[in-house]
Amino acid sequence: IPSIDALNERLTTLGINDPLPVFPDANPTLNPIDIYRCFIAHQLAPITGLVIKEIYENLNWTKALENGDLILVVPSIVSIRKKGGNYNELAKEWAAAFPENPYTLAPVVDGSTLRFFFKTDVLTNLVLPSILKYKENYGPINDGKGRRVIVEFSSPNIAKPFHAGHLRSTIIGGFVANLHEICGWDTIRMNYLGDWGKQFGILSVGFKRFGSEEELVKDPIHHLFNVYVKINQIISEEKEIEKKKAEEKGEKQTYNGPTDDEARAFFARMEAGDVEELALWKRFRELSIEKYRDTYARLNISYDVYSGESQVSKEAMDTASEMMKTKGISEESDGAVIVDFAKHVRPDPKDSSKPDPKDNSKKLGKAIVRKRDGTSLYLTRDIGAAMERYEKYNFDKMIYVVASQQDLHLQQLFKILSLLGFEWADKVQHVNFGMVSGMSTRRGNVVFLDDILQEAKERMDGAMKSNADKYAEVVDKDFVADTVGRSSVMIKDMSAKRIRGYDFNLEAMTSFEGDTGPYLQYAHTRVCSILRKAEVPLEQIENADISLLTEAHATKLVRCLAQYPDVVQQALKTLEPSNVVTYLFQMTHILSSSYSVLHVLSADQETRDARLALYESARIVLHSGMELLGLTPVDRM
Ligand code: ARG
Repeated sequence: IPSIDALNERLTTLGINDPLPVFPDANPTLNPIDIYRCFIAHQLAPITGLVIKEIYENLNWTKALENGDLILVVPSIVSIRKKGGNYNELAKEWAAAFPENPYTLAPVVDGSTLRFFFKTDVLTNLVLPSILKYKENYGPINDGKGRRVIVEFSSPNIAKPFHAGHLRSTIIGGFVANLHEICGWDTIRMNYLGDWGKQFGILSVGFKRFGSEEELVKDPIHHLFNVYVKINQIISEEKEIEKKKAEEKGEKQTYNGPTDDEARAFFARMEAGDVEELALWKRFRELSIEKYRDTYARLNISYDVYSGESQVSKEAMDTASEMMKTKGISEESDGAVIVDFAKHVRPDPKDSSKPDPKDNSKKLGKAIVRKRDGTSLYLTRDIGAAMERYEKYNFDKMIYVVASQQDLHLQQLFKILSLLGFEWADKVQHVNFGMVSGMSTRRGNVVFLDDILQEAKERMDGAMKSNADKYAEVVDKDFVADTVGRSSVMIKDMSAKRIRGYDFNLEAMTSFEGDTGPYLQYAHTRVCSILRKAEVPLEQIENADISLLTEAHATKLVRCLAQYPDVVQQALKTLEPSNVVTYLFQMTHILSSSYSVLHVLSADQETRDARLALYESARIVLHSGMELLGLTPVDRM
């Protein structure tokens, strides 16, 4: 991390002799916007009578640079709002008293808002050299400082299709993990497979009847799924027959048929630890993981741990149920064990005889934690898993990236962990997301990740072929089509707030029109091509005289590049990939509109080199941002 002394030295060379006033929450050495926040907050404190921290926290950026680099909305400051008053008048007074300074132009008053525009000569000299020097380390802030986070994501179910929920979890989870990693967290990527339960009894019985060893090895994911579908069909047919029989006899139906019996017995033997029966399941699991590994690698994801429901130890679950019993959290009900959350609303801190109105536990209803036959459930396994993970990894934070359909499940889990009194219960977090509709591939409505990626790739290959000259220049066509193809799926997924769902439309995703993955890749290849064609050594670019960058297009791009570390920091707070996606599109739009103004080849040498320094900086930020999102930026397409 660059030191504050080094920053002050830099400022001196820019003619600013007063050391920058800093305070603990700020990151001025890593984040240029924070230099301005520190300065402005420090100036405004005596003018406004507010503490520095409160001003600092209320200095926000705007949606468009035309509205300023930082704004201060007077009525959004809590202690001002408490006092009340004429906000427009206050804004005018504060602006009038703001001193002339090397960092900002005189603040613009707009109603009750103060708009600050940075002086671009100093800004350019602060931002571009940092980017050129720190390269991919420009952006991340050192938030983790070696703390440990577990990011659990993707978590598909063996023998069942990899549905849209898993796709989103994979993409968003990959981003959340990357984000923590670059910000200094010791990051553990975990895949919690759905690899236990009666369905494995069903699958095994099916495999014994019509499975093929050869096909299992060749394509475990599809083969197991086919076996699973086929055996389930048989089970439901048998059930129908039994139902008819029962109806004829006037009985209430109770029997599910012989195959279901067989499967149930098989799974019971698995739960009892029958070595022979477990061997088959183990092979299913291992072959599937092997295949998953390849597919995740296509998405730049590699897991530290393939855990799964099957891996949760009986001891952990027994300990949990013992604790729940002794602490009075769980109770018997009809032979099963349940938790009735309404009974565990915490008392109101103001009046302990009443329930806390802020505790929404009542809405969590009741959950079964142990079935009548003694077997565990999804929730039980999650409780045991969380305990084991804390034991093993001692995490400072654990994030579950799971669809919002499971909001209730995770709220119940978190509530139980907190009722159990674990001191780490407040370190778990659910990152949720909305549904995707209409996901289908040529194979049909049942989708597999590999098929989605394959189809996206084929579409990209087709699109690339439409420009025959360029296509001829692409060295590794297969790789490029694959990479850009998956970018299209990923960018669509990360473009809006997580909670919003979307329609799965490969045609729109793979288009070059609009804010799509292929557009972003294209923007990257274009800036690469400009730098390549200029044939100027990197060292010369890095030493260019950037004070020559005075055109409006250049300074606008610089102002945008200055925001990148702030964007990363914001994303770390919200865990919204769209923060980064939106930023990258904004930046690339400014970049591409500057090409027709800031020419390279026809400019004199000094101007040319300065412009190349600007383009190289933009390339670095674009490249970092894309990698953070989990994309592989391509140089040509
Ligand atoms: N396998 C589950 C499913 O497909 C997702 C697992 C989510 N993670 C968890 N710890 N419950 O629905």
